[in-house]
Amino acid sequence: MHLTQLRLHNFRSYGQLALMPPPGLTVFVGENGAGKTNLLEAIHLCCLGRSHRTTNDQDMIRTGSDTCAVHATVQRQGRMDEVGVRLYQQQRQRKLIYVGGKVVHRVGELMGHMTCVMFSPEDVEILKGGPQLRRRFLDMLLSQCLPAYFYSLQKYNAVLKQRNALLRAIARESASADQLPVWEEQLSVAAQPLVRARKQAVERLGELSKKHYAFISGRNQEELALSYVSQLSQHEDIKGSMMDRLRQSRQDDIRRQATSTGPHRDDIQCTLSGQEIRSYGSQGQIRTAVLSMRLSEIDILSQAQGEPPLLLLDDVMSELDPGRRLRLIAGLHHVQTLLTCADVQEVKNLNPSCILKVQDGQITQWGP
Ligand SMILES: Nc1ncnc2c1ncn2[C@@H]1O[C@H](COP(=O)(O)OP(=O)(O)OP(=O)(O)O)[C@@H](O)[C@H]1O
Ligand SMILES: [Mg+2]
Repeated sequence: MHLTQLRLHNFRSYGQLALMPPPGLTVFVGENGAGKTNLLEAIHLCCLGRSHRTTNDQDMIRTGSDTCAVHATVQRQGRMDEVGVRLYQQQRQRKLIYVGGKVVHRVGELMGHMTCVMFSPEDVEILKGGPQLRRRFLDMLLSQCLPAYFYSLQKYNAVLKQRNALLRAIARESASADQLPVWEEQLSVAAQPLVRARKQAVERLGELSKKHYAFISGRNQEELALSYVSQLSQHEDIKGSMMDRLRQSRQDDIRRQATSTGPHRDDIQCTLSGQEIRSYGSQGQIRTAVLSMRLSEIDILSQAQGEPPLLLLDDVMSELDPGRRLRLIAGLHHVQTLLTCADVQEVKNLNPSCILKVQDGQITQWGP
């Protein structure tokens, strides 16, 4: 997949900007706060309909503007595809999504047109932080691979919300527990495709990440392993076992006013040479492990779509030793990569196709 054009209008620090990145590696150099991450965020928005760093869409509208827009053109398997997102500060409908120049009504319709894998410094939280970050990692990957997964997830979350609302109503004695079985059956049906897809994805992710880790670290004696932790994945009959568990935990759930069983409680366990990486791994080992997971995402998306996604590397080189930097980039010659850094020295051995300077909302060719 090749991003041939990116256009921004009143997006964060940018007024108007048009960019035509070449294939291969494009480097954006600039001081802190210059607007480098903003560019990668705009690309992420076109791929997934949301930012990678804020849940509030309106943050991305340039201060003082009512609206912002990002449009991207990608070339994939010989044909052009166009996607875009427009956000409004005030309007009732605050987000419009465009595919092929036409407004589409569901975010799910955007997924898969333009795909990306983003790696940023905060990503170490995927391994160090709470399980919801690991679930989000899996959900983003699977939504880009299989649009049907995204719809299944939306459906599951909607039913979960209904059951939780009912639990609260029962706890206040304004509803009867007789209504629970209906929602439990629906929730169990909705859980099935999620558990199956996640289990398969973590198995594949584990095999690939182990390989990438060994390559980037240059050390064979450290073995990275991932496993899917779910109350349901061991069972053939996911729906049946989830219904049983929900029935058993009804009283507890009413007391806590929350649902204690289901894929919204899943996790990924990550170990290095048999030890939990979160408590055992060094900063650099954790970073290399997450990077290996991101590289595995590229493999999985490439396989699902017949060509590699875009790779967005935000400020990650400074954290890797020079050997790791070179081995990382050497494996990526077939992937269009957009990389940001504050110091051009970090990339001078990496043979970029293009180096651009980011300053005051403008992008210019890097010159000494
Ligand atoms: N909604 C907005 N409107 C106008 N400017 C914004 C908006 N949101 C962020 N900015 C500006 O964008 C800049 C931050 O951009 P960005 O995060 O891309 O910097 P960066 O080049 O990645 O920096 P660093 O090297 O520190 O990561 C800040 O100067 C901030 O003031
Ligand atoms: Mg940044």
